[in-house]
Amino acid sequence: MKTRVIIDTDPGQDDALAILLALSADAVLDVAGVTTVAGNVEVAQTSVNALRICQLAARGEIPVYCGCAQPILRPLHTAEFICGPDGLAGMDLAPPRQAAQAEHAVSFLIRELRDSDVNLTICALGPLTNIALALLQAPDVKAKIDRLVIMGGARDLGNITAAAEFNFFVDPHAAAVVFNAGLPITLCPLNVTYQAVATLARLKDFDPRGAVGGPIVSMLMRERPGGAALGGDAGHPMHDPCVIAWLLWPELFEGRDCHVVIETAEGPTVGRSTIDWWARSGLPTNAHVIGTLDADAMFARIAQSVGLLDAAPFRQAKALS
Ligand code: BDR
Ligand code: CA
Repeated sequence: MKTRVIIDTDPGQDDALAILLALSADAVLDVAGVTTVAGNVEVAQTSVNALRICQLAARGEIPVYCGCAQPILRPLHTAEFICGPDGLAGMDLAPPRQAAQAEHAVSFLIRELRDSDVNLTICALGPLTNIALALLQAPDVKAKIDRLVIMGGARDLGNITAAAEFNFFVDPHAAAVVFNAGLPITLCPLNVTYQAVATLARLKDFDPRGAVGGPIVSMLMRERPGGAALGGDAGHPMHDPCVIAWLLWPELFEGRDCHVVIETAEGPTVGRSTIDWWARSGLPTNAHVIGTLDADAMFARIAQSVGLLDAAPFRQAKALS
């Protein structure tokens, strides 16, 4: 049976590869919808980007719901300095033919969870604003969530401040709500996603001539602003694809259950995730935190999976359906 998922996202280059990976894994993942949030760029642009990515994958039928334009309390911080003015620098995607749905992302999350015959997994690739608001507005939906798989936080240093990772820094209050919700969580923090750098060697299996492979390679071959000086290695860290890859190939990842707490107080550590890796606090665990992954194997499998999106039978079948 397929795993039914909602992808909550702020595309964003690494979000783009994550969404393409999820859509390529059609045999395993049933994508109920894509919900967008402000993060890497403003929410109007993340919504356009989600539509462009679904269109690139010949999956224009996937509904996209526009979500929160602002974090719960803090002013919005965006990351055009990394991902370019439209959030998808290097991909050069066509404008979307479809529009986003009229329904707000938070309403969709609640409605879909309530109405679904099966429990869902939520893949959280951006600030957690939409998800926190859905949990606060309709706590009953928790019963319908199998798991939240989240990219966010860091076991050591951050990427947007010395202390904080971008997604949790943008909306630390939302992250605190989610980690206090008592739900099963898998967390892919920065210290693991920095192992997932798209090096030249790891890009060799992507098809630069493919309708989908081409924009991926072009995006990932683009020089990374700031380079390795911003952490990780030369090449773009593919943070968000780790979330989808964990769902598809958990055997490539290792982690442990930990207590995680998010700093919401303003100051130099706002947005920091304190991950009790060594269980020093004695507090109950609230997340399965990934520590290592086999990144070479992950990239080889991603290339193979997204390669399916370029295969003529797939594109024809989707065009006809
Ligand atoms: C996270 O922040 C965003 O810029 C990326 O898309 C990823 O979700 C990494 O810190
Ligand atoms: Ca993201």
